[in-house]
Amino acid sequence: MKILPNELILPPRTTFRKGAVLDLLKECAVFGKRGLLIHGQSFAAGGALQKIAEAGASSVSVKTWQHTGGEPTLDHLEHVLSVAREHRAEWVAGVGGGSVIDLAKACAGLMNAQLSAVAYHDGARIPSSGIPFVVAPTTAGTGSEATIVCVLTNSRTNVKKSFRHPSFMARLIILDPDLLAGSPPGVIANSGMDAFTQAIESYVSTGSNWMTDQFCLKGLALIASSIEVVFNDSRCDKAGDLLMGSYLAGLALSNARLGVVHGLAHPLGARFDVPHGLACAVCLPHAIEFNREAMGIKYTIMSETVGGDLLSATKRLMESFEIRSPFAGKTIADMDKVIEETLASGSTSANPRKVSATDVEYLLDRIFNL
Ligand SMILES: [Fe+2]
Repeated sequence: MKILPNELILPPRTTFRKGAVLDLLKECAVFGKRGLLIHGQSFAAGGALQKIAEAGASSVSVKTWQHTGGEPTLDHLEHVLSVAREHRAEWVAGVGGGSVIDLAKACAGLMNAQLSAVAYHDGARIPSSGIPFVVAPTTAGTGSEATIVCVLTNSRTNVKKSFRHPSFMARLIILDPDLLAGSPPGVIANSGMDAFTQAIESYVSTGSNWMTDQFCLKGLALIASSIEVVFNDSRCDKAGDLLMGSYLAGLALSNARLGVVHGLAHPLGARFDVPHGLACAVCLPHAIEFNREAMGIKYTIMSETVGGDLLSATKRLMESFEIRSPFAGKTIADMDKVIEETLASGSTSANPRKVSATDVEYLLDRIFNL
C-alpha cells in the first residue's frame, strides 16, 4: 500500500458552516472587482441569489449566468466563456449542482486559453491560464467542488467525457448545508448515490493510497449514515454530514480516480439521457459483484463502515429510494461504440479488476436485462 501517490492535489481552502454562502461575494472580491456568478434555476427561484447579492460587496461588478438545466455541454461552455470574456471577469463563482460546477470550473480554467473548448475536450494540452474559481455546491453528490475534473458532453458526437488540469482546482470551496434545504428527494437520492459510488470506487481503485483511503472511509461512513435521513428531510441536521461526505469522496476521486461504474455511466448517461447519479446507482450492484474478489479485505472494511454487507446495503438503499433502472428492457444501438468508450475511460482503467471487452458486454447484459 502506497502512503501517498506520486502527486497529491488538494484545494487550498474550504469553509464549512451553515450560512457561509452569504459571504460569497465578499470572498470573491479578494480576487478582483469583476466576476461571473454561474448558478442553476432552483438557486435563483429559491431567493438565495438575491440574498447573496444583498450581502455582497457593493464594489464588485457581478454578472450572473443561469444554467437552464440538463447535463453540461461544450455549447454551454462556449456560451458562458463568451459572457465571461465580454464581462472581463477576474474570477468565476459556481453555485449549483455538478453540472453548474463543471461549467463554472471549465469556464474559469479556460478563460484565457487560445483554442476552442472542443479542442481541449478532444485532448489538446490545456494551458495554465485560468482565473480564480470559487465554488459552493447545492447538491451532495458529484464532489466536483473538490476536483480538478470537468465532465462535459459534445452534443454533436454525443461523447461525454472528462478533462482535467491541476489549475482547475477551486481557490475556495464553500460547504453550506443550508444550500441543500428544499432539494427534491429524487435529487438527494440520485446525487447521494453518486457520492456513495464514488467513495467506494475511489477506495478500491488502483490509484488509491493511504491518504485517499482516509477520505473514502470517512466519506462513505458519513454518506451511509445520513443519506436516508436527508432524503426524508433535506433541512435536517444530517445535511452537513452528507455534504461533507460527498466532498471527501470528491477529494479522493480527484487523486485516486474511480472504476468501471463511472466508465459505464458516462456513455450510457449520454445515450439515454439519464442523470449521472441514477446511471451510477443502477450500475453499482453489478460492478460490486464483478469486483468482489479483487476488492479483497477492503470489501470487509467497507461493509463494516456502512454497518452491514456492502452489496446488501447498496441494494437496500436503492429500494429505500425506489430507484428503478432506466435501462431495463432497452437496447443499445451502438454496442461496439459503448464498449469502446467504456474501455477508453480513465475510470475503467483504474478499476481494481482488469476489464475486457467481454467483461463490459457481460456487465451491460446484466444492467439492461436483470
Ligand atoms: Fe460520479
